[in-house]
Amino acid sequence: MQKILQMRLLFMGILITGLILIGASVAVTAFSEEETPEEAISDLSQSDDECVVCHQDHTPGIVNQYGASDHFANNVSCADCHEVEEAYPGATQHPEQEFFVLARSSPAKCETCHRQQVQEFTFSRHALPAYVAYAGSDVLSEDHLAQYESIPEGGFLPGGRDRNSLHALEGPDVTHFACETCHNVGKPNPDNSIGDCTACHLRHEFNLEQARKPETCNACHIGPDHPQWEIYQESPHGIAYATLGHNWNWEAQPGTLTTEDFPAPTCAICHMSGFGLSATTHDVGDRLTWFLAASISQPRPNAAENRIRMQNVCRTCHSSDFIAQFYTDGDAIVQSINEWVILSDLMVQPLKDNGLLTAQPFDEPLDYTYFEIWHHWGRTAKFGAWMQGPDYTQWHGAYEILHDLSELREQVDAKLEAADLEPLDLPDDFPSIESAREYIARQAEETDAE
Ligand code: HEC
Ligand code: HEC
Ligand code: HEC
Ligand code: HEC
Ligand code: HEC
Ligand code: HEC
Ligand code: HEC
Ligand code: HEC
Repeated sequence: MQKILQMRLLFMGILITGLILIGASVAVTAFSEEETPEEAISDLSQSDDECVVCHQDHTPGIVNQYGASDHFANNVSCADCHEVEEAYPGATQHPEQEFFVLARSSPAKCETCHRQQVQEFTFSRHALPAYVAYAGSDVLSEDHLAQYESIPEGGFLPGGRDRNSLHALEGPDVTHFACETCHNVGKPNPDNSIGDCTACHLRHEFNLEQARKPETCNACHIGPDHPQWEIYQESPHGIAYATLGHNWNWEAQPGTLTTEDFPAPTCAICHMSGFGLSATTHDVGDRLTWFLAASISQPRPNAAENRIRMQNVCRTCHSSDFIAQFYTDGDAIVQSINEWVILSDLMVQPLKDNGLLTAQPFDEPLDYTYFEIWHHWGRTAKFGAWMQGPDYTQWHGAYEILHDLSELREQVDAKLEAADLEPLDLPDDFPSIESAREYIARQAEETDAE
């Protein structure tokens, strides 16, 4: 009851503030229709902010974007994000001026006004875990290592992270344009703050529509190992977005979004926006049950609470029975993919036991087959199921797993035979899902017997 009363009071407050704001904006726009970009820029040309005045000549692109932003409308200045003391880590003296600036303004500057968003982001996998994924944890300072380890869902890999071996193989000239472009979303800054808000909020408009659109996520969530963008495009939600999204209320005030604003969800609605009973979050792990990107998926530490938060988003548009059934089916496919991946591990085990694998990663075809089974196809099948992309679950997922399991068998047997060892004794119906279950059970019995 108390809660409902509070909600009502809050709602009244919002309503009254809204009316005042509408009143004010009617007064301002009494003599003009909606402001055109040219007019906004002309407002800016009245500015007596020295940074704006001079930068209008030197970097007009930046000033125009800034002029269209809510920051400009709310008197947030260039200096608020850029000007720092000389001693500030990363500060450089401004060309031909006495003062010092941060050329790449960091989340520490945003934090003065957006504390909650910065905190949530900093303790999410978009922060240090994303950086560690390619750089390894050895490069972290002591403080950052402690911070990284305190992220509950941060480090799912037992025994640390050595899957950045591709990073070392390719070398910095290549990875600068590859791994780092995507994973630096979580790179530490000289002032010890973490990451880069402009990965999703393009400077200098910091526009909500841009951040909310799925194209923003597709900068990184794309391709054979994490095709969330492709999956979304073939899902009913993505079809609704592509065909009707131009009518949606992209600039709606955060925290108040309803199905009238968004009749179908985008990536941001399911993973971040305040929608239904779930509050806005910059921790994109907050609504996830599984570690789906892992080779063998385990539940997350806060799986039960996270699941409720995601289901509360679905519940705005789908019935409880529909959601419960969907989650039961989703859990079941995760188990099946896990079983195929365990089968691939068991198939490679005799090579490991007999020292028949080279020490160098990714130096022979078998390494690629074994890796792609889980890293490309297993992940893709799971993502496709959870985000409604049947082609990704089937033809870019399960089918490719079957194909690569049969190739792996040939590659393993060839090595065993070359070493005068028995070939793998796989069930007759290999590579069916039943054969995976049977083989796993058989191996477990043998281990028990030993
Ligand atoms: C008298 C002109 C002038 C004034 C005043 C001025 N700037 Fe600049 N600013 C420039 C020029 C010129 C550059 C260099 C642009 C280039 O490299 O092409 C620059 C560069 C910068 C850079 C990039 C620095 C780098 O190392 O990449 C930042 C950030 C910046 N200005 C912010 C500000 C802020 C904040 C203010 C106000 C406190 C300000 N500027 C005032 C002319 C000015
Ligand atoms: C809300 C904070 C914010 C405000 C306000 C802001 N900036 Fe920035 N600016 C940033 C961030 C963040 C970056 C770094 C972008 C990146 O990482 O690529 C940046 C980058 C820059 C750069 C370097 C970009 C490049 O591509 O070389 C310049 C120059 C600059 N800003 C000037 C300005 C000027 C001039 C203003 C005012 C007209 C201004 N900024 C207002 C946050 C801000
Ligand atoms: C000096 C305070 C201040 C700083 C520093 C600041 N902001 Fe803001 N920001 C604001 C205000 C005020 C608003 C408008 C709030 C509102 O509409 O509720 C805003 C709005 C926003 C919005 C929503 C835009 C919209 O259309 O409603 C985003 C996104 C944003 N800021 C990102 C950033 C990022 C990223 C940084 C750091 C690079 C930053 N801000 C730095 C004060 C600040
Ligand atoms: C196109 C952007 C992009 C590029 C390029 C990229 N990654 Fe990733 N990577 C991602 C995304 C997105 C995920 C998250 C997948 C998920 O959770 O579904 C990820 C996940 C990972 C993970 C698993 C998560 C973890 O923390 O263990 C590792 C390891 C990783 N990447 C390493 C690399 C390395 C090494 C490179 C370069 C050789 C690289 N990535 C290149 C976007 C990229
Ligand atoms: C993964 C993409 C992503 C990153 C990274 C990101 N944001 Fe956002 N941000 C969003 C989205 C999407 C929204 C709109 C949420 C909604 O629909 O209400 C948003 C909204 C905001 C808002 C508006 C108020 C709110 O809470 O909705 C602010 C302020 C903001 N972000 C600040 C930041 C700051 C500061 C950082 C860096 C620490 C940051 N964001 C990093 C995607 C991102
Ligand atoms: C600049 C690249 C980049 C952008 C843009 C980006 N992400 Fe990510 N995202 C990553 C990387 C890298 C990871 C994996 C980090 C890890 O697991 O180590 C990730 C992980 C995630 C995860 C899994 C988090 C977890 O706890 O496992 C979700 C969900 C996610 N992103 C959603 C989004 C959404 C939604 C957007 C757009 C609003 C977005 N991302 C934009 C790079 C990006
Ligand atoms: C209808 C809601 C919905 C939409 C839309 C959606 N997702 Fe998801 N996403 C989910 C669900 C549900 C899961 C699996 C949750 C779990 O583990 O319980 C998931 C999983 C993920 C993961 C895997 C995290 C991990 O454990 O490795 C990433 C990354 C991700 N989504 C990013 C995105 C991106 C990017 C988009 C848009 C292109 C998107 N999602 C669109 C609901 C959605
Ligand atoms: C804002 C509303 C909205 C939200 C939130 C939403 N959906 Fe949907 N969903 C739709 C619409 C609209 C369709 C298309 C229905 C149709 O096919 O006619 C749809 C279709 C689906 C379908 C395909 C249904 C079928 O019969 O083929 C699945 C599965 C689904 N949603 C799952 C989810 C899950 C899981 C969540 C939460 C993680 C979710 N949805 C969140 C609106 C929503």
